Amino acid sequence: MAAPQASVLDVLRARLREGLREARGGGEPPAPLLDVAVRTLRLPDGPVILVRPRDWPALLDAEREAGHDAPFWAATWPSGEQLARVVAGVPLLGRAVLDLGCGLGLVAIAAARAGADVLAVDVSADAVTFAAENMSLNGVGGRTANCSWADDAVAECGPFDLVLGGDILYSSIGVQALLDALPPLVAHEGEAWFADPGRAAAQAAVSAARATWAVRSERLDEDIVLHRLRRDA
Ligand SMILES: C[S@@+](CC[C@H](N)C(=O)[O-])C[C@H]1O[C@@H](n2cnc3c(N)ncnc32)[C@H](O)[C@@H]1O
Repeated sequence: MAAPQASVLDVLRARLREGLREARGGGEPPAPLLDVAVRTLRLPDGPVILVRPRDWPALLDAEREAGHDAPFWAATWPSGEQLARVVAGVPLLGRAVLDLGCGLGLVAIAAARAGADVLAVDVSADAVTFAAENMSLNGVGGRTANCSWADDAVAECGPFDLVLGGDILYSSIGVQALLDALPPLVAHEGEAWFADPGRAAAQAAVSAARATWAVRSERLDEDIVLHRLRRDA
């Protein structure tokens, strides 16, 4: 798939501005959020095209100045890329799939292309705006929601056959909230898959999860491990 020409980028920028203004309650988004670039990523089932903020450090500065959290959503992380590659090879036709901490939406796109009925959630409203745009850009359906994985609203949409998370086990507080929220999200015969680059919080979470879940961990490459959680029989 060829990278879009400047005029297409202008259209994307205009659509994103509208979505971001709405997501931010009417305020003008900071300039680095609309300084976008397009990246093509190859998955086993074909290319995925992702629009994202071009200059992450500039966006970080702008968000810090405004007193906001670091925009970790605004890049694809190696764990998410590896998870998307795994998901792209799994038959998911008609399966209910939840992508937690969806960021730019790569994992959700891979699941939707595999046939899943996808819900992608992120605590960042900006992330959800970009994820929705990226899903549309890649011609896949699916729902997005701006909320925390700990919100009851997510559980009310479940349970899900497959719950996915690319590099979301990085803060011990967030990880504990995730482990507490997980049981009602995963269908009886379902699984939760988390790809992680060996973060300390993830290792602690996986150890704690073994009390409730059967955990299978598999190395995807030198750095990334995929943890598959299933209800302990
Ligand atoms: C390191 S990024 C990973 C993004 C994407 N999954 C990937 O692999 O490229 C972590 C993501 O989790 C989101 N996140 C953090 N805490 C969250 C929470 N409590 N509920 C939902 N999303 C959360 C962040 O906004 C961010 O998009």
